[in-house]
Amino acid sequence: MTSLQECLINWYQENHRDFPWRQDHDPYHIWISEIMLQQTTTETVIPYYQNFIEHFPTVDDLAWASLEDVYKMWEGLGYYRRAKHLHESAKMIVDQYQGVFPCQYEDIIALKGVGEYTAGAILSIAYFKPYPAVDGNVLRIISRVYLIKENIVKKNTKKLIYDKVKGLLKGYDASSFNQALMDLGATICRPVHPRCSNCPIASFCKAREFHQQNVLPISIKKINHQEINYITGIITYQDQFLIIKNPPGLLENLYGFVQYEVESPYTFIERFKEEYGVELNIVSSIKRVKHVFTHRTWYMNVYHFVLNKPIEGLCTLEQLDLKPISTAHQKVLKAYRQSDAI
Ligand code: ADE
Repeated sequence: MTSLQECLINWYQENHRDFPWRQDHDPYHIWISEIMLQQTTTETVIPYYQNFIEHFPTVDDLAWASLEDVYKMWEGLGYYRRAKHLHESAKMIVDQYQGVFPCQYEDIIALKGVGEYTAGAILSIAYFKPYPAVDGNVLRIISRVYLIKENIVKKNTKKLIYDKVKGLLKGYDASSFNQALMDLGATICRPVHPRCSNCPIASFCKAREFHQQNVLPISIKKINHQEINYITGIITYQDQFLIIKNPPGLLENLYGFVQYEVESPYTFIERFKEEYGVELNIVSSIKRVKHVFTHRTWYMNVYHFVLNKPIEGLCTLEQLDLKPISTAHQKVLKAYRQSDAI
């Protein structure tokens, strides 16, 4: 009888999705793609990946680039800390391993931005080593196949599933096996309406046998989500816009518009005067723009203000377009461009 692993790997050989990062097993390529694919869809990642590799073809090129150039390549992809970590890690690889990507688990997991999942993905895909790469897709598939009814958010459940995958991997092509799970999760064993009749491992699936595929996995999250209201200022002087480097913390090193956690555009004007020593006049309300991060949501109440005299940091729209701007503030700029204000 054909094993679950054979069914899965054979299915992958014949049906795998074609992605640019699947054209070779270069660990640098796999690393970049896996970092981009954290929290971002494959469809979005494809052009960013191609652009990034074209600009920084090797670890050395990335290490020697300026952080600003790396951010520019990342603009619009979100979660900018990933770009900063990639840059730091590239320098580590040049310093500690002469630019040769490491192949040991301990060395790979020590890289900034690399957790257990990403380390497992790199080790298996690039080096064919038998490490699991357990993400949400794998938690879902394994919980269905083995009828695991525990909450997959819990550490113990994750460990149980990790160990299951580790056992399954033994003696098989870990690169194909892990990537098969990724593709199965994306195309067949989906969160809702799984396509069980097309599944290569349906005959092994306990959830299907007991009609639990629409119930599992159990995923109950404890939420601790912060919501913040900002007044965000599109501040202009003639045809120029005020853009600043974000303060340390979230999105630092990217540029954005001035915003304060205040409840009125009039309080905004007072705060601005305290910080910059210059008067603003309010022109119009533009829009309320929402941006969701992992642990917080920003509500940016966008207003157009004008300066009564020029200050440092003003630039034209063309210059603005050349700066790395956070996704949240790209939305603000878009709202402004689509408004009557321009
Ligand atoms: N998601 C995360 N890693 C992936 C990969 N290597 N291929 C497709 N989807 C993925």
